[in-house]
Parts: sequence; structure tokens; C-alpha cells
Amino acid sequence: MSSTDILLSADAVDAQARTLAQAPLTEVLQWAFSTFGTTAAIGTSFQGAGLVMIHHAVQAGITLPVFTLDTGLLFPETLELKARLEAFFGITIETVAPAMSLEEQAVELGDALWKQRPDACCHIRKVEPLKERLKTLSVWITGVRQEQAASRQGAGILERYLFDPLLERYILKLNPMTAWGRDAVWNYLHKHGIPYNPLHDRGYRSIGCFPCTRPTAEGGDERAGRWTGFDKSECGIHTFLAPAR
Ligand code: ADX
Ligand code: SF4
Repeated sequence: MSSTDILLSADAVDAQARTLAQAPLTEVLQWAFSTFGTTAAIGTSFQGAGLVMIHHAVQAGITLPVFTLDTGLLFPETLELKARLEAFFGITIETVAPAMSLEEQAVELGDALWKQRPDACCHIRKVEPLKERLKTLSVWITGVRQEQAASRQGAGILERYLFDPLLERYILKLNPMTAWGRDAVWNYLHKHGIPYNPLHDRGYRSIGCFPCTRPTAEGGDERAGRWTGFDKSECGIHTFLAPAR
């Protein structure tokens, strides 16, 4: 049995989820690390929730790996923030990159694919690289919050997904921040002087790639500034896995 096979049954996941929902954030992260070691990893785009998790982990000496999906189309502010966070937390944040360069994508599928077929662009630049990283993991830890969007209201703290139907391989998704509100996240970041993306002070409430992210007015859906003009609200990383009971 490889380390990525250490998984819980559906009933065990439900029971564990009930326990974790009552536990402080540090205990949730500690459970993941002591149960799964470095086959549990935090995926972050350096928005508030991910930073709160990393801070709790570092404070408690929980050395969970941290990775980010770099599409090649991130804002310069986001790349600069990554370096600042590595220095602030004293950690290395792994960059997970797409197999296809932007030049290859333009030649094979057309220039500025995000303007024509954003779903295809997100698939190549976010979903496929994430799948590669998840092949080595038992637990994917995310900063998804229920309050972020209507589509996220059903997110549970611990979820079980079918990762590979052929190999019958399952993966756990741990969302320790599900119940955290935006104010709680931002109060925490300010209180602890944690570096954050300066774009947040310029009206960007949800930050992804620069061609597909706009500032938005206060109130309403936090993610309204993503893929403005398209009938699209998710890049696909939180929708491609099949829920498993
Ligand atoms: S996304 O679906 O639009 O990209 P969002 O920005 O709301 O997601 O972030 C929700 C969670 O998805 C983050 O807390 C993080 O766990 C994960 N995530 C989003 N973007 C990335 C990224 N570029 N790299 C790693 N994880 C990411
Ligand atoms: Fe491409 Fe836009 Fe998706 Fe980034 S968010 S991968 S630029 S479609």
C-alpha cells in the first residue's frame, strides 16, 4: 500500500467531519498532518483564507507542504507576494505549472485562449496541473469558504471524492475555512501583520489570472469580478472531482 492509499471509508469521513467541524483550525491542520504526513498539502492562491491556514500551521510547527498553481498569467503583485510570504513564514511554496507553455498554447489553440474559450484555458492551466499534483496526495487542503459564492454554500469541512475511477482511487478534500466569514479572515490577517495582495486594497475581492479578474463593488458575490462577461463562475478546480459516498 502506498502512502496515497491511506484513506477513510465514507462513514469514517462523515464522522471525522463532524469532529473537525467543532475543532479549532490548528487542530484540524494537525489532524491532517499527523494522519497523512506530507501526502496532505495546502493549495493556495495567496488570498485571505489560505494565508490564515499557513499562519496557523507555521505557528504550531505543522510542516504541511504548500503549493500554488501558477498559470503563467498571474498578476505581478501576486508573484511578488509569493516571495514576501516565503520570507515572512520562512517556508518554500512549491510552484505547480502547466505542461503547456503560453506560446505552445497560442500556437496549438489560438492566441489569447481565455478570450475565446476560458474553460479550455482553465482546464490546461489550472485543472490538469492540479490533477498531476493530486496524484501524489491523499488530502488536498483548500481555503474554500461557504460565504464566497452561492456555488460554495454546500462545501463541507471534509469531503471524499473519486479521483480515478479506473484505479478506484479516492482523495479527501479538507476545507478547514468553510465556516469563516470574510471579516474574520481579514481581521486575522491584519492582527498578525500577515502580508497580503495589494490588489485587495484596489477593489479586487477575488484574485486569479490578470486577463480574467476585475475589481468589483462591495456587497454581493465576492467572486463577481472573475470571468466578467462570460457565463462562468468556477475555473473547474472545485468542480472536476466526482463526489463519492
Ligand atoms: S478559484 O476556483 O476561483 O480559482 P478561489 O480563488 O475562490 O478559487 O480560491 C478558493 C481556493 O481554491 C483557494 O483557497 C485555494 O485552496 C484553491 N485555489 C484557487 N486558486 C489556486 C491556485 N492558483 N493555486 C492553488 N490553489 C488554488
Ligand atoms: Fe486562462 Fe483566465 Fe482561466 Fe487563467 S482564469 S487559466 S487566464 S481562462
